[in-house]
Amino acid sequence: MVCLGNICRSPLADGLLKSKVEELGLDVKVDSAGTSNYHVGHSPDARMRATARERGISIDELEARQFIVQDFDDFELIYAMDQSNFQNIIALARTPEDKAKVHLILNESHPNKNLEVPDPYFGGDQGFIEVYELLDEATDAIIKNRLMQ
Ligand code: 4NP
Repeated sequence: MVCLGNICRSPLADGLLKSKVEELGLDVKVDSAGTSNYHVGHSPDARMRATARERGISIDELEARQFIVQDFDDFELIYAMDQSNFQNIIALARTPEDKAKVHLILNESHPNKNLEVPDPYFGGDQGFIEVYELLDEATDAIIKNRLMQ
């Protein structure tokens, strides 16, 4: 799960998918990162943590890290939250196989629409709730489309 800062959207996507994978007893490794180094080592944004906690998901333990080329070797699926993240990840790809691992996350729940998870960082509380709803739906779709085959 990859966004810009790894403090808002990707930590929530990570926490939601981890929680669902665990509940289903699936053996899947889930992690998150940011394309930037702005917040490396920081906890998720307090507003995202609160929105998650109120809905039964804890993302308090995550520490932000930057996406690295090694992630192409360590993961089969790489989900970008928006087009900018997508392009930044693609720019690091070494091979067509690396590129093929990268997807816009909302294409799982809204196929072929190329929708983006809006960056909530500079907005109000409603933005965090919207991010939660979009990522709850997208992580359900990932389970159904990719992990339960
Ligand atoms: P995220 O949100 O990419 O969902 O973690 C952001 C966090 C920080 C910044 C931008 C977006 N920033 O500019 O510091």
